[in-house]
Amino acid sequence: MSSTFDRPRRLRRTPALRALTREISLSPGNLIYPMFVHEGADDQTISTMPGVLRYSLAGAVKRVGEAREKGVRSIVLFGVPDHKDAQGSQAYAEQGIVQVAIRAIRAAYADITIIADTCLCEYTDHGHCGPLCEVGGELTVDNDAALELLAQTAVSQVRAGADVVAPSAMMDGQVAAIRAALDAAGFSHVPVMSYAVKYASGYYGPFREAAGSTPSFGDRASYQMDPAGGYREALREARLDAEQGADYLMVKPGLPYLDVIRVIRDAFDLPLVAYNVSGEYAMVKAAVAAGMLDERRTVLETMIAFRRAGADAIMTYHALDVAGWLAEG
Ligand code: PBG
Ligand code: ZN
Repeated sequence: MSSTFDRPRRLRRTPALRALTREISLSPGNLIYPMFVHEGADDQTISTMPGVLRYSLAGAVKRVGEAREKGVRSIVLFGVPDHKDAQGSQAYAEQGIVQVAIRAIRAAYADITIIADTCLCEYTDHGHCGPLCEVGGELTVDNDAALELLAQTAVSQVRAGADVVAPSAMMDGQVAAIRAALDAAGFSHVPVMSYAVKYASGYYGPFREAAGSTPSFGDRASYQMDPAGGYREALREARLDAEQGADYLMVKPGLPYLDVIRVIRDAFDLPLVAYNVSGEYAMVKAAVAAGMLDERRTVLETMIAFRRAGADAIMTYHALDVAGWLAEG
C-alpha cells in the first residue's frame, strides 16, 4: 500500500535516528543540588524525603565532593539552626550554620558554585519568612523590616563565600534591597537568583519537615502567590524582579507550573531556573518505593520536561542520581 499520509515513525526507528533530531538536551551542568545543613555532628535522615539528609558540616563537605565527582557543580544551601527567635537572627549571624557551612565548603572546593537561599523562615521561631507586625488586628510579616534583615543575610552569606544569593521570602522589593546592600558592601559582581514566581504551595510540605520551618500559625498565602492567580500576576512578579536587578528568575514549584515556566521564558531574556520542589521529589520516591514507577525513566523524563518548558537550570533533589544516569548514557 502506498502511503497517502505522512509517516513520522520513519524518524524514530533507531536510537541513532532519534538522537539525530532531538531538540532538548540535559547535562549535569544544568543541575543545582539543594542541601540542608544543621549544627549537629550526625547526618540525619528525613522521613518524607528518602535519600535527602540534614547534613553535618563534615557530611555536607563530603556530599559536595560526591556531587562534584558526578559533574554537579552547583549547590543551594539551606540552614537548620539550633536557635530560633522572632527576628531570625541566626540567618545573618557571623557564625550562623549556613555561614559556617559556606566557609567549610568553599575551603574544600574552590570551583563549586555555592548558592545561598536567602530567607528567614528556617530561623524564626514562628516559621514565617520575616519578622511579624500587626495589620488590621492580624499578625503578618512586616515587609520592610524583613527587607533589612534579608539584605543583611545576603551580605553575610556572600562574606562567608557564597557565589550567588537566592532570595525566597516573597517580600516586595527584596531584590532591590539585596542588590543595593551587596553593591554597598563591595559585591557588585555577585548575582541575585530571584525566586521571582513562587506560589503558596502544598508541595513544600516535606521541605518544611526537613528544615523545621512550618509556620506556627496561619500560612504564607499573604506573601507567596495564589496558584489560581494566572499569568498576569506571574508576569508582574517577574517584571518587578527583573527591574530590581535580578540576574536569574525562578519558577517554583516546577511540575505543576510548567506552563508558567514557558510563559516567563518567552517574556524575558533572563536565565530561568525551575525548582523541582520537595513534594515533587517525595511523590516520585513514594511511587518508586511502592513499585509503581521506574525511577530512572520518570525522573529523566521530568528533567527533560523542565528543559522543554524553557528552564535553563533545574534545582532538584534528584541531581546526583540524574548526573549518574546521564553518565551511563
Ligand atoms: C524558604 C524556602 C522554601 C522552599 C525553598 N525556600 C519553603 C517555603 O517557602 O515554605 C521550598 C523548597 C522545597 O519544597 O523543596 N522560603
Ligand atoms: Zn521563607
